[in-house]
Amino acid sequence: MSSPNIAILGATGVVGQEILKILDEKNFPFNEIKFLASARSAGNQIEFKGKIYTVEEAKPEAFEGLNIVLASAGGATSKALAEEIIKKGAVMVDNSSAFRMEPEVPLVIAGVNDDDLKKHKGIIANPNCSTSQLMLPLKPLHDYANIKRMIVSTYQSVSGAGKDAIDDLIEGTKAYLNNEQYDPKKFKDYLISFNLIPHIDSFVDYDYTKEEMKVVNETRKILHLSKDVRISCTAVRVPVHTSHSESVSVEFEKEITPEKAREILSSAYGVEVVDDVANLKYPTPIEAAGKDPVYVGRIRKELALDNGLAMWVVADNLRIGAALNTVRIAEKLVEMNLF
Ligand SMILES: NC(=O)c1ccc[n+]([C@@H]2O[C@H](COP(=O)([O-])OP(=O)(O)OC[C@H]3O[C@@H](n4cnc5c(N)ncnc54)[C@H](OP(=O)(O)O)[C@@H]3O)[C@@H](O)[C@H]2O)c1
Repeated sequence: MSSPNIAILGATGVVGQEILKILDEKNFPFNEIKFLASARSAGNQIEFKGKIYTVEEAKPEAFEGLNIVLASAGGATSKALAEEIIKKGAVMVDNSSAFRMEPEVPLVIAGVNDDDLKKHKGIIANPNCSTSQLMLPLKPLHDYANIKRMIVSTYQSVSGAGKDAIDDLIEGTKAYLNNEQYDPKKFKDYLISFNLIPHIDSFVDYDYTKEEMKVVNETRKILHLSKDVRISCTAVRVPVHTSHSESVSVEFEKEITPEKAREILSSAYGVEVVDDVANLKYPTPIEAAGKDPVYVGRIRKELALDNGLAMWVVADNLRIGAALNTVRIAEKLVEMNLF
């Protein structure tokens, strides 16, 4: 097994920087590494493993000789460059939503549906952050009791919307407290500081948002669920820097007690149960930030559903929701000899 030549496309962004950190932490084996971004950042320097690299503009020729491209530069960039990347012989692990629902593109959470990687034709899609963190706890519960119906409410941090959104929370909050004017870069219609915005991405059919429908459609694709499994989601942006939280209510085909769910989740890959209400132990976004596991707590019987289970799922959206799963997929590509 040889080490791949890799590139991070979108290396200067929030997700790109997190990918860099995780490659370093995991000591990911590579032969050569490149850092790509737009013309705006070309020429900037990035330090990685004690070496200084110059950021290059993501022009077609930049992909020459590469084996794996870890892309987090937005859907338009991924769409514009995919053909060139594949033509040059590399596999693109893409964080954007551009290809997620294409039937021939595997949509993968490492440790959940790794076999789907074998079907790739040059592009592998990384799911949306709010779907990603749900898959690791849902998969073993589904294997045990079969999901019949699910209702999810998300409480999504601003880092999920990129650099500008983080600035709006931090600078906007300072300005609000100082009674000063702040010109928002991302949240232009409603203030994000001291507020909640029940709207992420554009509105589509039945007044759901694209973000909400990503949870519905991507969950079905990753867990190979039939259309009969009914799922709905409400996605809300909250004034939290990092980590998304989700209130999840699931109806299963057979009964699953909270005790059984805790037992299953305690040994599930990538999941950590934090559920001891007597001692006020449950997951929160600040505690989850910067960590790898998907934390699950408040596990209880869902009173409104048959064979129902309710839980609270919290994870770092930049890690399992994007960068960590991207790197885990790259590790699988190396392990399974798929690049
Ligand atoms: N944030 C999350 O939690 C999250 C989770 C899952 C998926 N994603 C997805 O990941 C992608 C990146 O998100 P982000 O939050 O990291 O955004 P971001 O902080 O705004 O970073 C965007 C990155 O893309 C680069 N870029 C923009 N236009 C480009 C172009 N034409 N050619 C080459 N590079 C270009 C930027 O380079 P410059 O420095 O040159 O502008 C920057 O490195 C998006 O598709 C997003 O939907 C994000």
